Amino acid sequence: MAVAEHRYDLVVVANRLPVDRVQDNEGNVSWSKSPGGLVTAMESVMIDRDGAWIGWSGDPGEAPEPFDENGMHLHAVPLSQDEIENHYEGFSNETLWPLYHDVIVPPRYRRRWFEGYHEVNQRFAQAAADLAAPGATVWVHDYQLQLVPAMLRELRPDVQIGWFDHIPFPSVELFAQLPWRRQVIEGLLGADLLGFQRRADAENFLRVCRQLLGLSTRGHTVTVPGADGAERVVRAAAFPISIDASGLEELARTPEVQERAKQIRHDLGDPRQVLLGVDRLDYTKGIRHRLKAYEELLTDGVLAPPDTVLVQVATPSRERVTAYIELREQVEVTVGRANGDFGQLGSPAIHYLHQSHGRSEMAALYLAADVMLVTPLRDGMNLVAKEYVTCRFDEGGALVLSEFTGAAGELDRAFICTPHDIGGLKRTIREALDADPRDKRRRMRSMRRRVRENDVRRWADSFLCALNPSEGRATGEP
Ligand code: ADP
Ligand code: G6P
Repeated sequence: MAVAEHRYDLVVVANRLPVDRVQDNEGNVSWSKSPGGLVTAMESVMIDRDGAWIGWSGDPGEAPEPFDENGMHLHAVPLSQDEIENHYEGFSNETLWPLYHDVIVPPRYRRRWFEGYHEVNQRFAQAAADLAAPGATVWVHDYQLQLVPAMLRELRPDVQIGWFDHIPFPSVELFAQLPWRRQVIEGLLGADLLGFQRRADAENFLRVCRQLLGLSTRGHTVTVPGADGAERVVRAAAFPISIDASGLEELARTPEVQERAKQIRHDLGDPRQVLLGVDRLDYTKGIRHRLKAYEELLTDGVLAPPDTVLVQVATPSRERVTAYIELREQVEVTVGRANGDFGQLGSPAIHYLHQSHGRSEMAALYLAADVMLVTPLRDGMNLVAKEYVTCRFDEGGALVLSEFTGAAGELDRAFICTPHDIGGLKRTIREALDADPRDKRRRMRSMRRRVRENDVRRWADSFLCALNPSEGRATGEP
């Protein structure tokens, strides 16, 4: 085993580093924030702690040397072009992602992809084994690294191993499709603690252990027989993830962000009502359903620019995976058609931005929006919903939220919608637009309280404390 120069008591292992390497045409390298909720949440946890973060830089080829960024110690794991195709694009994002999101698109099962996944998981496990101090806590994240817990236990039986699932965990009926289901479950059972977004996800996992592997479960625990006859107990429970609520609210309250929010409304033509969607461009997010409902409201003459406009910000995501290429085409055709049919000179019906923005711009967009549309067909949590209510310190705005998000469990005072039901979605959007301002304020106040009470620090403390009781105060399950 290679011995790292410095070893850490806390090691986070995630497929991606919190920053992506970006190289321009002249070969200059810079780093920008990586996309997605995992990074949003874990970045705020790690800035406060002296731990290492192991992950991929987002580029093929050699990994850069370990470096510090924003107070975090980052250790890159290299992935070759083949490994990106097999482990990341293939098994992670064409097999597991759709399977774990209710098969919204059909998962594809390829043996070569699983081989790549296995190899890359082994590399991450080795990197964690090399960096962890004796008795350290190693916190593994998400569906891309489900084999790491068992591989790491083999290499370093002295460390505490936690794994957190940022996405849903499917029902046994769906999970049973996976040809490598046994390997995945055995991989996860190498952990001491498995965290899920919702109670239902943890229960799905426990049922999978019982029904597919014949293991015995009791309450939140699974008993795992060891080769030597010894037994281990693995816990599986819900720890709903959150955001750095106080930090984001502080940002939203700055005069610069408030000024920018006013400027955004002005640039949009000072409409009476601004609707907003903010997502990674992913088929799980229900963007097509949202656009269809909005287009029908325009066709019905219920809404019309310049009185009402929709801003859809869609971060580029997984751009070489077929389902994402198709989604982008469908979204862009719909936006083009709606603007052709209903836009006016200087007033498009939909402002579509296929771009990423910084935190301040996001906060300003949230503050500028009268109605936030969060309409996933399935989503582990959805941090955008929590960010929106956090930024609304003015208690203004309204949140339309899909019942198929983890966030709906906490934000039940949102205008809850069922995105598959386009008629119902249209009614919910109208309800949110027309609601009595006092009712909207009451809803917003209650949702803001929920997010403040369960912020990302509390989430991380409760997970780490359940994993290793000497770590800090106990605040959550189990
Ligand atoms: P997911 O993890 O599936 O992408 P979440 O809603 O949980 O979904 O998290 C998305 C995160 O990415 C949020 O922190 C959100 O602010 C951020 N984000 C989404 N779209 C953009 C964008 N266009 N520019 C910058 N950040 C974005
Ligand atoms: C979700 C997943 C993360 C992933 C992120 C961005 O948040 O839970 O694991 O990192 O999406 O996706 P990407 O494929 O770009 O890493």
